[in-house]
Amino acid sequence: MKIESFKLERYFAEYEFSTKYLLSSSDCDGYSLEYILNCADTNELKLWHELKFGYTDSAGSLFLREAISAQYQNISENDVLVMSPGEANFILMNVVLNEGDEVICTGPAYQSLYQIAKDLGCNIKFWYPASGTTYFYDTSDLKRLITKRTKLLIINFPHNPTGFIPSESELNEIINIARINNILLFSDEMYHQLVHDRNSNIPSVCDLYENSVSLWGMAKSFGLAGLRLGWIATKRHDLIEKIVSFKDYLTICNNAAGEVLSYIALKHKEKFIEPNIEKIVRNKHIFMNFVNHNSDLLEFSETKAGSTALVKLKIHCSAYKYSEKLVKETGIMLVPSEMFEYGDKHVRIGFGRENFPEILNVWQKLINDQCY
Ligand SMILES: Cc1ncc(COP(=O)(O)O)c(C=O)c1O
Repeated sequence: MKIESFKLERYFAEYEFSTKYLLSSSDCDGYSLEYILNCADTNELKLWHELKFGYTDSAGSLFLREAISAQYQNISENDVLVMSPGEANFILMNVVLNEGDEVICTGPAYQSLYQIAKDLGCNIKFWYPASGTTYFYDTSDLKRLITKRTKLLIINFPHNPTGFIPSESELNEIINIARINNILLFSDEMYHQLVHDRNSNIPSVCDLYENSVSLWGMAKSFGLAGLRLGWIATKRHDLIEKIVSFKDYLTICNNAAGEVLSYIALKHKEKFIEPNIEKIVRNKHIFMNFVNHNSDLLEFSETKAGSTALVKLKIHCSAYKYSEKLVKETGIMLVPSEMFEYGDKHVRIGFGRENFPEILNVWQKLINDQCY
């Protein structure tokens, strides 16, 4: 199988470690090893200090799968498979899909959510949000996309990049649509629980629908992207068997240190997720002020979830050109919407970094100096 290059990741590869300011990252600042170990109790510290670097259980070590299953209402340790999120996505598509299958995916999307299916020869249809500054995924649009040939529906809420989250009743409606049409639902929940107001939290799809697979991991909600660890949770044990056996050709098993550190983070979840939410909300409000000051250039409607927003630029050139100029003149990296194959007039903003206010000051200076 030949795969198209991953536009967003290639764009990051160009600037992420060479430029000064990252204004488009979807992850929050990474926590330090010291921070993680300071959260640990005596037993967890023992696990860390006695850790041996042999192979680990392919499915994920039992202590970790138990801690993961405790995050859900109806999921047991046997319904969980641990692997990196990208690997989970890649394998799932490979074991579920065949050439010619029809797949519906929320768009704009993190590219791997649809690209692997596309390169397997599937017919991809995007479920786009209603147009306007406020993003809203209308279930009547979803209904119109479904046909008898639809095999897989892929959703991603909280959504990267728009920051949209459905209400619980809207989520139930999506599930009903999938259930009535006997469609497997793959729910990328990488930003699960990153909701700006705690009351907007929604359940995980795997707790509500037997024909679904939910994906979550350490990178976004927990601020531990460098652990490279995530998992799927599903009642579909036929899929678990196929996925774990495909994994034998990739990583085989998970990294031992990442498993223990993820376990500690899960056991002290609030110490990881809460500071991230506080930072995101603080930065979002600073950004709203920035937009008010620069309404000739920017259009933004407040987001309710996730760590990112998709912001409209009122410019004549393309978002790509604008971003290239900005990064070259100021060192500020923005992701233009071309990387999401979503027109050329938007950029993604990431709210999860401590130096966010400083970056906006640098951008403001350029706007003042150059009258963009
Ligand atoms: C929606 C979505 N799914 C999956 C991933 C992959 O997560 P990870 O970096 O942990 O592999 C990302 C990363 O940006 C993402 O935004």
